[in-house]
Amino acid sequence: MTVSLDQLRRCHFAVDLGAARTRVYVKGSGLVVDQPSVAAVNTRTGGLIAVGDFAERMTGRTPHYITVVRPISGGTVIDIEMAHRMLRQLLGDKTRRALRRNLRLRAAACTPHGADPLAQRAITETLVGLGARRVELVDTLIAAAIGCGLPVEQPEATMIMMCGAATTQVAVLSLGSIVAAERIPVGGEAVDNAIVQHLRHEHHLMLPGQSVRPLQVTLSDTGLTAQGPAQTEIHGRDVVTGLPRSVRIDTAAVRDAIETPLTAVLDGIGKVLRDCPPDLVADLADRGIVMAGGSALLPGFDQMLREATGMPVHIAEQPDLCAAQGIGAMLEGRIEPMVLNPLAA
Ligand SMILES: Nc1ncnc2c1ncn2[C@@H]1O[C@H](COP(=O)(O)OP(=O)(O)OP(=O)(O)O)[C@@H](O)[C@H]1O
Ligand SMILES: [Mg+2]
Repeated sequence: MTVSLDQLRRCHFAVDLGAARTRVYVKGSGLVVDQPSVAAVNTRTGGLIAVGDFAERMTGRTPHYITVVRPISGGTVIDIEMAHRMLRQLLGDKTRRALRRNLRLRAAACTPHGADPLAQRAITETLVGLGARRVELVDTLIAAAIGCGLPVEQPEATMIMMCGAATTQVAVLSLGSIVAAERIPVGGEAVDNAIVQHLRHEHHLMLPGQSVRPLQVTLSDTGLTAQGPAQTEIHGRDVVTGLPRSVRIDTAAVRDAIETPLTAVLDGIGKVLRDCPPDLVADLADRGIVMAGGSALLPGFDQMLREATGMPVHIAEQPDLCAAQGIGAMLEGRIEPMVLNPLAA
């Protein structure tokens, strides 16, 4: 399946539905939505109570008749109806009215690399539910590479690594196409889980899901590298007594806990490099790897990659927005003409 830039230029809006966040780019207006992919539902009436940031803040704090759901998991829409209701609400009345003025509304969407036909269909149907008459799908890796400003259309290799919440996708691109790619089912969520499990087992401390990020920020301030201070204090709840408790934790031990899920990512990079023709690998030794996606900001991740691969590693500017900005640039026609083969392996 191929999609040309011509078809993308005719789209009115584009979405990047992620396991953690949903982004919507509207042609002519730019990025209009960047919110958590979360909806709070009243289980008695089926009505939507909140979406996005507000719904996320409700997580773990709701009375029994409200459930907080995530309609996207592992990069795939698992609840089409909820996903399109969430999108509708996130877009707001004004943007929706403006989009509806287009007689034949066309949408574009990022799809994870190698998404199966069912996953592709789920994304398409979500957007059809929003009123789109035609939906173009673009491989997230190509969108992200364009969003990072990589020269994808040149006859030289560029390596992009998309570090999302549920998956990490790695690809080598040349001449506007994917030469070799891997999708590894490990992302920011797995890292957060590793931290939560570590604290539970080693310190008998329960850390609410929302507190993992502040911990990561503390660790990034103190440095998750070997040179950083050895200990940091965190607050949580005792597993046995249920009472609030603070503990001092070893940053080195947390780093080890985080490294376990990240090893799978290193294996994936190795596989992509092995699948790549030698000439392109030589280009990569100079250019290195560009990291995109929210989890690229994970403290120490880039350093770990540098040490493991011996290649230069750069984090893109605004890494979490790369895919949405890239697909937006295609809609606006800011890309050199070329034919994209977005789902080619
Ligand atoms: N400053 C940060 N430090 C560490 N992790 C971060 C930071 N900012 C975002 N993340 C992590 O990045 C992830 C979200 O990234 P992103 O928005 O790219 O995911 P997504 O597109 O929703 O997921 P996917 O593409 O896998 O479906 C979350 O797991 C979050 O914990
Ligand atoms: Mg993503």
